[in-house]
Amino acid sequence: MSWNRQHLLDIQSLRADELTAVLDTAETFKGVGQRDVKKVPALRGKTIINLFIEPSTRTRISFELAAQRLSADVINFSMEASSFRKGETLKDTAKNLEALNADILIIRHRSAGAPHFLSRVLDVSVINAGDGAHEHPTQALLDIFTMREKLGRIEGLKVTILGDILFSRVARSLIWALTKLNAEVTLCGPPTLVPQRLEALGCRVTHDLEAALAEADIVNLLRIQHERQQQTMFPSLGEYSKLFGVSIDRLNQMKPSAIIMHPGPMNRGVEIDTEVAESERSVILDQVTNGLAVRMAVLYLINGGQVPTQPETTSSN
Ligand code: CP
Repeated sequence: MSWNRQHLLDIQSLRADELTAVLDTAETFKGVGQRDVKKVPALRGKTIINLFIEPSTRTRISFELAAQRLSADVINFSMEASSFRKGETLKDTAKNLEALNADILIIRHRSAGAPHFLSRVLDVSVINAGDGAHEHPTQALLDIFTMREKLGRIEGLKVTILGDILFSRVARSLIWALTKLNAEVTLCGPPTLVPQRLEALGCRVTHDLEAALAEADIVNLLRIQHERQQQTMFPSLGEYSKLFGVSIDRLNQMKPSAIIMHPGPMNRGVEIDTEVAESERSVILDQVTNGLAVRMAVLYLINGGQVPTQPETTSSN
């Protein structure tokens, strides 16, 4: 089966079976990353452009490495050294990149909807690497890949997403992915950052941190997004840390099997203490490793690659 999508713009418009297809394909590519020769010829001759108009460490580098591992040619657009600085529009910039026979354009932009706009005005495939406070689909895919890898399933898992949810594209994509795969999602944080109306997304909202931690199989912490807040949403970082930061004491109140996730970059000492970030229960760097396999899978499927068939299970009944 092939994926039959020209673009990856969001998680909201994907079906559950399409999410699972990415995870199954990423498992195959994770195996490639563990070989001596970590390269496959799947995208040989293809050109991929990283058009990042906002800063990024993890997403940009892992898309670049994913493209290289698939044997594609990859160009990193540098905003500072580009004609963007002379006032060239996003559309003109992207049209010029397309004119160089690009096959896939990966875009991060501060404005929600920028990838959707480009998908309407270009013929090339467009992948959303984060658009404003809207969505960050490949982050959600690597998050659910890591959950399935660590805990064996997604369905029925109790996932607490804690922190700045109102301004988080990571939270929005993850909520769509988890609810489509029938996990139980609880959103927790101060009422200014986690308003009750978010229950419309199919999750529970609570401001009771101790209860939200105690019941969780997974706690996914989110960074306080100073850059997207128009006003201060809580009195001080110190107060936020005291009321909602995860310390080692709070970690010890969680189920012994529960794991800690964070998409990065972390604000150490604000939403997460160093001892928690570096504890055995933290899978934060596994998320980064898995991001490479997931992005290889996305590039491969967008390019028309086949989803691997799962071995048939034999029932003992
Ligand atoms: N998680 C994430 O998107 O990190 P970067 O901003 O470094 O890409």
